[in-house]
Amino acid sequence: MIYLDNSATSFPKPEEVYLFMDHFYRSKGVNPGRSGFDAAIATEEMVASTRKMLTQLFNGTNSNRLTFSYNATDSLNLILNGLLEKDDHVVTTMLEHNSVLRRCIILH
Ligand SMILES: Cc1ncc(COP(=O)(O)O)c(C=O)c1O
Repeated sequence: MIYLDNSATSFPKPEEVYLFMDHFYRSKGVNPGRSGFDAAIATEEMVASTRKMLTQLFNGTNSNRLTFSYNATDSLNLILNGLLEKDDHVVTTMLEHNSVLRRCIILH
């Protein structure tokens, strides 16, 4: 297969990604922070350390303010819903991605 949609997601992933995800789902793939059993605590620690690493990567200061979302559309909706109020004026172009344009039109 020749994959040309890397702006959406990379494929194939580096081998390390497959190895890590396989290990994660087989050993720690439980609901983080939900209970006090060992796997839940270990998973929560992994989520917290990932949150800290990403905060550092994006030059953030407080890892508790980093939010995981499902995808770019979900992130953009969170931002637009949080920032915009009724009757706000958004300047954009028709070149903007559908995920932003649709949200702006719905909020209009
Ligand atoms: C500029 C831009 N914004 C938003 C999206 C939507 O991303 P997702 O499919 O992760 O919701 C894409 C997807 O390719 C994109 O290229």
